[in-house]
Amino acid sequence: MSLRERCPVIMFNDFGDERGKLVVIEGNQSIPFEIKRVFYIYDSDSTIVRGQHANRESEFVLINVAGTSKVRITDGREEFIVELNKPMMGVYIPTMVWKDMYDFSPDSVLLVLASTHYIGSEYIRDYEEYLKEIGHEK
Ligand code: TYD
Repeated sequence: MSLRERCPVIMFNDFGDERGKLVVIEGNQSIPFEIKRVFYIYDSDSTIVRGQHANRESEFVLINVAGTSKVRITDGREEFIVELNKPMMGVYIPTMVWKDMYDFSPDSVLLVLASTHYIGSEYIRDYEEYLKEIGHEK
């Protein structure tokens, strides 16, 4: 399976009527895990790169509920970029996949749904260590 296939873009149900729009995301339904944690990133700007980690245990879905940002996704061999620019659009990041989030618009609110509670030690923040753990050491 290609990296893109492993990290699909997911379009959520977007119910709109004259009152506005409503996006629905349900754990184990529109996304492939039970949601244990939610956090959001805002007040980053176009000069900032966030993320820069892979996770041994956590799966994520990233959604720009306002504004836009980009996510660079790599497994050390393949790489691709997703622009998150719609509130009903998310990208799924499985375990042991490296991600960088960047190019945040001034109004960006990047919502992250996670499959685990926070455990700092399951984050791999060193890219060389990441390559070693997935067996892609150069
Ligand atoms: P960090 O993982 O560096 O954020 P990003 O993925 O955007 O680069 O997290 C920033 C800080 O917040 C760091 O001190 C750890 C803390 N944090 C928690 O305490 N709980 C969490 O669920 C997350 C995601 C971060």
